[in-house]
Order: sequence, then structure tokens, then C-alpha cells
Amino acid sequence: MTTLGTPLSPHATKVMLLGSGELGKEVLIALQRLGVETIAVDRYDNAPGQQVAHHARTITMSDPAQLKALIEAERPHLVVPEIEAIATPMLQELEAAGVATVIPNARAARLTMDREGIRRLAAETLGLPTSPYRFCNSLAELQAAIDGADGQPAIGYPCIVKPVMSSSGKGQSKIDTPADVAAAWDYAMAGGRVSHGRVIVEGFIDFDYEITLLTVRAGPEGAVATQFCEPIGHVQVSGDYVESWQPQRMTPQALARAQEIAAAITGNLGGRGLFGVELFVKGDEVWFSEVSPRPHDTGLVTLCTQWQSEFELHARAILGLPVDTSLRNPGASAVIYGGVDATGIVFDGVDEALAVPGTDLRLFGKPESFVKRRMGVALARADHTDTARANAKLAASKVRPRQA
Ligand SMILES: Nc1ncnc2c1ncn2[C@@H]1O[C@H](COP(=O)(O)OP(=O)(O)OP(=O)(O)O)[C@@H](O)[C@H]1O
Ligand SMILES: [Mg+2]
Repeated sequence: MTTLGTPLSPHATKVMLLGSGELGKEVLIALQRLGVETIAVDRYDNAPGQQVAHHARTITMSDPAQLKALIEAERPHLVVPEIEAIATPMLQELEAAGVATVIPNARAARLTMDREGIRRLAAETLGLPTSPYRFCNSLAELQAAIDGADGQPAIGYPCIVKPVMSSSGKGQSKIDTPADVAAAWDYAMAGGRVSHGRVIVEGFIDFDYEITLLTVRAGPEGAVATQFCEPIGHVQVSGDYVESWQPQRMTPQALARAQEIAAAITGNLGGRGLFGVELFVKGDEVWFSEVSPRPHDTGLVTLCTQWQSEFELHARAILGLPVDTSLRNPGASAVIYGGVDATGIVFDGVDEALAVPGTDLRLFGKPESFVKRRMGVALARADHTDTARANAKLAASKVRPRQA
């Protein structure tokens, strides 16, 4: 039996979000609707999720001492990581000491925070199909891995280099010829989250399309079951998502394989919550790429396509409540970038955007805009994903951010 309390009372059910960006904001809204007391943590003040939570806290989440002090002071029932850059070894310590219940668990947060942990688990422990890959600590090692000069099979050209700790395509580049290798190394060193000096080089998969398979582990303690949402198709530009739609049509064989892979990786990570499993598909063949143990940016589309968005699914799953992953109607999302470097920007054309049939908008309320910062998203529902994609992109193009 699940019992929920009254917020701001001695019997409140308290949930702490570590990271309060646009995805955390929607999880917080879903929790608020169930009367959960929420604590929104971020590295800067007035982050999107902090604007809709009961409490806002600003700390450096990658600093173990600050993280420990905050969790011990607040004593939330659940600690929900929303970003990767967290002192996850400290979460493991606090979990082991019985101080914190981490979603889905501290091991999953730690394994997915860098590309090495999750790739080795998927490919080497679970034997899931992935791109060929190697980890390198220097330009010389990178070149040797590509050429096969290290005694292992050559990664070859084209290939992709990524810092082991990075997200949203930061520091990531494609190498087509030997002339690109040094530049890719330098770019990765500049773009990593922490100066780590380590990269993964992956053979390039010439996929037909890529999907995010949102996978939910939900149910009562001891009877957690796995459920899937309809696959989400998406387009990435320089490693960052610009457009997504649901459902992505797949052959029954490819869908079955995708679900099998998603069940294997999420089953190993364990715990309760929603996961975004990223997969590449070519014909009936499916490769595992990576997994987020939390809502996924491409899943913003579910705000207009499912009865329960990925954020509501996550909120329900972590509270031990039943979930419904079914599709309501096809739809699409299109990202709105800042386009300017400025604080307190304004958005022209919101009315024109919402005049596009079947559309909706989320403006995240980020205090500071950058040219390539995601500031909002346009959503569109339609009878077909083609129409939805066209309308989402049209609506997004009508929103014009500018300096106030
Ligand atoms: N081995 C590969 N072969 C072909 N394309 C790839 C490969 N690896 C990455 N990509 C492309 O680059 C995109 C981003 O890669 P990846 O998901 O690993 O990086 P990321 O920085 O974690 O991105 P995000 O945080 O947006 O998920 C993928 O969605 C895919 O389009
Ligand atoms: Mg990715």
C-alpha cells in the first residue's frame, strides 16, 4: 500500500530533485499534483524546476560534501537525480548507510554518469549489441585504436569521438579521415564535463533511424514490472536533439529486439522509475547506444502524445504507483533555441505559434539564454507524425527569442 502525505506538514512525502532543468521541472509539476513536498536543487538560482517547487536549494552537486550536507539536512524520502554530473559515489555511500533512497538506485546513477560504466555493462557484462568501441587516454592511443595498431580490431573510419563524461553532444565529433583525428581529440578535451582526458571512440553505425524507447519499471515493492512506451523517433544535430516524434514505425522484429535490449539493461540497473533507452535501428537489426535512468529530452513529445507523459510516469513509478504507458495520439516536438546570449530574454510570436493547429508550448523560464541553449519546446498532436512534425517545427519557428 502506498500512503502519501500533505506537503508542508509533519507527514509530508518529500522528494528531492538533483537537477532542476526543463525535465526536472515537469517531474516536479507531476509530483506537486500528487501533493508531494518537493525540493528542487540546482547549481544556479531560479532554475526552471526551482520555480515550481516548494523549496529551492543551490549547491554544487558534483561536490560530495555539499551533497551530503544537503541530503542530511533535508532528509527527503526519495532522492531523484535529474542530471549526470552529480557526486554519485557519495550517493552510493548515503544509500548504503540508509540515509537516502536514490532513484532508481545509486549504482545506476553512477554507472550512467560516464560512458565507460554503462558501455562496459551493456556490451561486456550483458552481451548487448553496440558499436565497436575503445577507451583512450591520449591522441596516440586514439590513433592506435582507429588503426588497430594496439593489437585489437581497428575501429576504422568513419568513427565518433566523445569525452567519457559529457552529454548533449558536448565535445563530440565525427572523424572521416586521418586528417580529422587531432582536431577531434582537442575538441573532446575542451568539451568534457570535467577535465578527465579520457574519450570513447566508437565505430560509426550507419543506421536507418534512431529511437528512444521509454521503459518504465513500476509496481509494488517486490513485484516491479517492466512496461514500454511507443518508440520515439528523433533527429540529432551535433549530438543534440532538435526534433522528436511518437510513434516511430518499426518492423515487429526490430521492435521486439529493441524491447528485449531495453528490458535487459533496465533490468540490470534495477529500481523503480522511467528510463530512456537510446537505440540505433537498421532493418531488423538493433544496437544499444546509451540509457538515462530518468526522463529523456526526446521524450518531451510525450507531453502531447500519451495519457501519462514520461514525467508523470516517472513520478508515479518512483512513488510505487501504477502506470499507464499507452499512446493517446501521434505527435511531435521541436526545440526552441535561445539564438542570443542574454539574460531575461523575451519571446515574440507566442500567439502565432499557438495558432498552428494542435500545438502547445513549453517555455522553460531559464534566467539566461545562450545561442545554443534549449529555451523551450513546441509540441504538436495530429493524426499522423508527418503532420505533427511539420506543425511542431512551424510553431517552434514562430517563437522568436530576443534580448529584452
Ligand atoms: N556510434 C555511432 N554511430 C552513429 N551515430 C552515432 C554514434 N554515436 C552517437 N551517434 C549520434 O550522435 C548522437 C549523440 O550521441 P550520444 O547519445 O552518445 O551523445 P550524448 O552527448 O549523450 O547525447 P544526448 O545527451 O543528447 O543523448 C546519437 O543520438 C546519434 O545520433
Ligand atoms: Mg544520447
